[in-house]
Amino acid sequence: MNVLAFNGSARRKNWNTVTMLEHALEGARESGAETELINLYQLDFKGCSSCFACKRLDRKKTGVCAFKDDLQPILEKVREAHAIILGTPVYFGSETATTRAFLERLQFPYLNYKDYNNSHFPRHMPTGLMYTMNVTEEQQTVLGYESVFERTRNYLARIFGSCELVIANNTTQYTDYDKFEAAYEKNEKARYREAFFASDCQRAREMGARLVCGESA
Ligand SMILES: Cc1cc2nc3c(=O)[nH]c(=O)nc-3n(C[C@H](O)[C@H](O)[C@H](O)COP(=O)(O)O)c2cc1C
Repeated sequence: MNVLAFNGSARRKNWNTVTMLEHALEGARESGAETELINLYQLDFKGCSSCFACKRLDRKKTGVCAFKDDLQPILEKVREAHAIILGTPVYFGSETATTRAFLERLQFPYLNYKDYNNSHFPRHMPTGLMYTMNVTEEQQTVLGYESVFERTRNYLARIFGSCELVIANNTTQYTDYDKFEAAYEKNEKARYREAFFASDCQRAREMGARLVCGESA
């Protein structure tokens, strides 16, 4: 049983998204899975090229993206995975561009153009979706982010069978808030992180475990 996690942040060490993903994978390992973390920014790939090879009636295989780049072997791994988890920072109210490019390539081959409710992915695969962001929960609601998260969650659920959402708000962006532009006084973010980030990570860990145990909604 293997669980793949995809980091949609360029920051790979100790930062918010990757830390949440590492906790989710720890939860999966504690439940008996083998895990792998894949950093999307380290791969050379593009979004869907609209070639429609995956929609041709004479295609040899269903659900395969014809575009040959670094993502090809990764997408093959997804076909064999027990569960996948995707983590992304919020950039301008949405997933990072790299994450969106990945989502296009991941999902489009499995989208059944004849019957949107009947995915070409051959089985139920639980998925997890994680967002980290600068804004607070209250600001997130005012800005309407929930509808963006729900749209992406819903696509993943329709294509792979189910998708759970975990969110971390008010994340730390800089190590030293004295050195960069910010609307926060020096220790405000650090205090929030100290109080809440551990519980965000714990929710990620619990989700990782649920994805393995088949308890994921
Ligand atoms: C280009 C860019 C755009 C961003 N846009 C938003 C945004 O629209 N809303 C928000 O809450 N945070 C925004 N942020 C902050 C990040 O989402 C937040 O710091 C996130 O936790 C970073 O994740 P990381 O530490 O894993 O890289 C933005 C950051 C960058 C660099």
